[in-house]
Amino acid sequence: MKRALITGVTGQDGAYLASSLLNKGYEVYGTYRRISTPNFWRLEYLNVFNKINLIPADLGDTGSLFETLKISELDEIYHLAAQSFVEASFETPVATGDVTGLSVTRILEAIRQLCPDARFYFAATSEMYGKSGKTNRPLREEDFFHPMSPYAAAKLYGYWITKIYRDGYGIFAVNGILFNHESPIRGLEFVTRKVANEVAKISLELSEELRLGNLNAKRDWGYAPEYVESMWRMLQQKEPDDYVIATSEAHSVRELVQKAFDVAELDWQEYVKVDKRFLRPLDVPSLRGDYSKAKRKLGWSPKTKFNGLVEIMVKEEINRWKRWIDGERFPWDAPNYPSENRILTRASRM
Ligand code: NAP
Ligand code: GDD
Repeated sequence: MKRALITGVTGQDGAYLASSLLNKGYEVYGTYRRISTPNFWRLEYLNVFNKINLIPADLGDTGSLFETLKISELDEIYHLAAQSFVEASFETPVATGDVTGLSVTRILEAIRQLCPDARFYFAATSEMYGKSGKTNRPLREEDFFHPMSPYAAAKLYGYWITKIYRDGYGIFAVNGILFNHESPIRGLEFVTRKVANEVAKISLELSEELRLGNLNAKRDWGYAPEYVESMWRMLQQKEPDDYVIATSEAHSVRELVQKAFDVAELDWQEYVKVDKRFLRPLDVPSLRGDYSKAKRKLGWSPKTKFNGLVEIMVKEEINRWKRWIDGERFPWDAPNYPSENRILTRASRM
């Protein structure tokens, strides 16, 4: 049985990837960090909470990362954990540099010293292209990076250190350059889920308006469960390489809002207000990716495009809020702790 470690298993991609690897017959390990309110709700939502092994580790804590790699005899390591919210990276640039950037070296060093044969996936990002996104054609692997946020600069560091450990030490290390991907278990702060959630509440008269920042920004939005499949495929290749994963369609935030209100049969102009609190010091104007290398080499293509994605998200939020009105509570209203046998603390390993 193959063994895989996912850092950031409590996040959107971590939860979907855990589910996907379990279905492929993997033994799955996932790191989580101590926070004041446990957030295993995504793992519960996907019904994988009791099927994976949880390891306490923090990206800022080198020792905990080394300990994690020591115990597991891993075949594959997916490094997904990060401070992943671009807006927050302007508020906490140093912490983002450490957690999102430097942590990649911490993990690669641990791999080099402890398990150099393990295959390594780094969650790079389209945000690294930044200003280069203003070109009219979709972006490819060889295009120029021009970051426009502390988050993107940190990810670019992670991207390069991944290449350096691949070329310098022969580690099977890949960069997945994923464009935005969304789902009903996306964090509420990201624009797609924020819009879907508020549209659902407005349609059920639980809210009256939706406040947003830059409506002109364009993004290439895909469906997260399909994107995690590409991560696995990258690690099954003969040689390590870097891949763009995208839909090749770009839509503006304005179009997103319009489509989301259409799904709920409402007129967006009656509810949406621009609020400068949600504007960023810099914002990438447009991002669109060319996934032809992934299609050719990995056999990967997106199935869900923009309209389908917005429909999935808005309908799921309406369904959730209807259940909430009927008295049902969401998993995140009742925080849960992992059962003891699934939590691998240091003491339990001694
Ligand atoms: P996410 O939902 O924000 O999940 C991030 C994960 O990182 C969470 O499990 C979080 O733990 C963990 N984490 C944050 N700080 C940590 C720390 N100091 N120590 C240990 N764990 C920490 O992000 P996602 O959407 O799943 O994205 C996964 C990865 O892909 C991220 O690296 C992101 O930057 C990258 N990416 C995402 C997209 C996208 O559109 N989704 C596109 C390109 C690249 P908590 O649950 O405790 O907060
Ligand atoms: N979050 C948010 N909230 N974004 C808004 C809002 C708002 O109220 N109003 C407008 N936007 C605009 C942002 O300015 C940005 O141009 C766009 O909507 C998308 O914002 P996010 O959903 O926060 O995503 P992102 O593109 O900044 O970053 C996401 O995608 C990257 C890949 O390109 C994150 O998942 C990153 O981790 C990922 O690397």
